[in-house]
Amino acid sequence: MNVLVTGGAGFIGHNIALHLKRLGYGVTAFDSLKRATEFACRRLASCSIPIIKGDVLNSRSIKKRRCSYPRSCLHKR
Ligand SMILES: NC(=O)c1ccc[n+]([C@@H]2O[C@H](COP(=O)([O-])OP(=O)(O)OC[C@H]3O[C@@H](n4cnc5c(N)ncnc54)[C@H](O)[C@@H]3O)[C@@H](O)[C@H]2O)c1
Repeated sequence: MNVLVTGGAGFIGHNIALHLKRLGYGVTAFDSLKRATEFACRRLASCSIPIIKGDVLNSRSIKKRRCSYPRSCLHKR
């Protein structure tokens, strides 16, 4: 199953993304990168988790990046 983790390059998001990956899920991080840390991005990259840059508040941003149909979306607010 593919999961889109919004805020996926943040503190909580990247830890969730890494955990889901370890459980065997296909994971994509979606993040504006405004508050993302280099540490989190490096950890995602080391586990081959792609980061898509975009604003979750902008639906066009999500559609444009072809991630409008994940099987599941994990959104933290
Ligand atoms: N080492 C530590 O213990 C540590 C480190 C960092 C943070 N914290 C704690 O963790 C909590 C914060 O973590 P968090 O994960 O909630 O916040 P965060 O800021 O780390 O992550 C939020 C992520 O969401 C992204 N984002 C924000 N708005 C967005 C939007 N509209 N579209 C797409 N992406 C968007 C940001 O760029 C960021 O990467 C706080 O309690 C903080 O004290 C602890």
